[in-house]
Amino acid sequence: MPRPLTDPVVRLNRSSPIPLTTQLASELRTAMSTGVLRPTERLPSSRSLAAGLSVSRTVVTDAYQQLYAEGWLEGRHGSGTFVAEHEPLSERPREASGPGHRPSPERLHTRPSRVQVRDEGMIDLRPGAPWVHDHDRAALRRAWRHAAEHFPDEEPDPHGLPRLRELLAEHLRRARGIRIGPENVLVTRGTGNGLDLVAALLGPGIRAGVEEPGYARARTILFARGAQVVPCPVDHDGLRVENLPEDLDLVYTTPAHQYPLGGRLPVPRRERLLAWAARTGALIVEDDYDAEFRYDVAPLPALYGLDPDLVVLLGTLSKTLDPDLGIGWIVAEPELVHRLSLLRAELTDRTSGPVQAATARLLERGDLDRHLRRMRREYARRRALIVEHLGLRLAGDTAGLHVLLCLPKNAVDAVVRAAKAEGVLVEDTSRTSQGAPRVHGLVIGYGSVSYTELRRACEVLSRIVDHHAG
Ligand SMILES: Cc1ncc(COP(=O)(O)O)c(C=O)c1O
Repeated sequence: MPRPLTDPVVRLNRSSPIPLTTQLASELRTAMSTGVLRPTERLPSSRSLAAGLSVSRTVVTDAYQQLYAEGWLEGRHGSGTFVAEHEPLSERPREASGPGHRPSPERLHTRPSRVQVRDEGMIDLRPGAPWVHDHDRAALRRAWRHAAEHFPDEEPDPHGLPRLRELLAEHLRRARGIRIGPENVLVTRGTGNGLDLVAALLGPGIRAGVEEPGYARARTILFARGAQVVPCPVDHDGLRVENLPEDLDLVYTTPAHQYPLGGRLPVPRRERLLAWAARTGALIVEDDYDAEFRYDVAPLPALYGLDPDLVVLLGTLSKTLDPDLGIGWIVAEPELVHRLSLLRAELTDRTSGPVQAATARLLERGDLDRHLRRMRREYARRRALIVEHLGLRLAGDTAGLHVLLCLPKNAVDAVVRAAKAEGVLVEDTSRTSQGAPRVHGLVIGYGSVSYTELRRACEVLSRIVDHHAG
């Protein structure tokens, strides 16, 4: 028999403006993350929980549905709803510290951010970095021992380590629904490196379309390789395909999760994009940077799978594991993979052999999948916190490690300044546009801060936003 989940496990505040469903989901999340509800424990049926809490059954089914989507709950056919298996994260309450107790990684505050060294004492919500403090240390040690045994290697293959290419192909077949083999994979140091190689292969003087607003680094890389960068407008669903110029050589796009607006390119637009590329001869560069983190529905298979002749897919472990690892991939037709590898050898551009060997081990042993499952749950929990505090103004909150907080144009600077004065660093959207900004607000990254830091930051931000833009 499942135990009844009434006070003190679940407390609902009927006079709060926060909807009962949100409160219930939040209470259950806390009970699961603190171990009050244990993995594999059965939850009451929606009918009996609704009766116990004197709420409508929809409140309970909606809260359950949310927690299913976040990975906290799992159903077993015909037998009910259960708490999914999960390992505690470092921030969850620990047993009392003993002599051999390691300090919480959170207190080892030496991590550099991707852009600048982190400012001690500031809560850094600038986007781009994932949470790197809950790696399975034993798995990492195993992987590095394995890498050390295989080092030094003979002449490195510019396509990448053969075993890693195989494992990545298998991972992408499963995770991204594309039918590929190792011959389709070139191991890179990340999506930036992949885009740079593609741009170098096409040569200077090309006309390269980039989503507007979009990922500033993609523009920078293309520009540095001598491309003429052409802004291509997006809307809340992603690239506005019908507006694409006919004379582009390449278009860079983020169909799984448009950066920064968060749209997922709908299937009819995907088809029109491919038709456009077939007609104009342009190459589609698909940046698949955070497709593994989707919280509402399963991600659509990668665009690459629809027509491998027209698309080059760029992927990365920067979001799923650690940007410092420097591992990513290009997926393309074998002939193009080979041309890219030859160019790469000429440019003396390579991915570290030991890092590839260690990554192969992590994939081989299922460590990457386990980490992904844990982090998906953790990011969903943080995302829910942001939605709870800043919900009404958010866009792009169904995937990835960032959300867009929309603000009136004239309030943005004041909000950024006031947040900084209260110890919260945020980035506005100005860098995402090449021309006049099309969106106004903040790109809030919730990957690299702890849950507690995020809670504090959300409180500060919601107060400041109410004051400046309420
Ligand atoms: C749109 C986009 N693409 C790619 C990346 C990752 O790039 P890389 O793999 O070069 O670290 C990021 C990271 O912030 C991103 O926001």
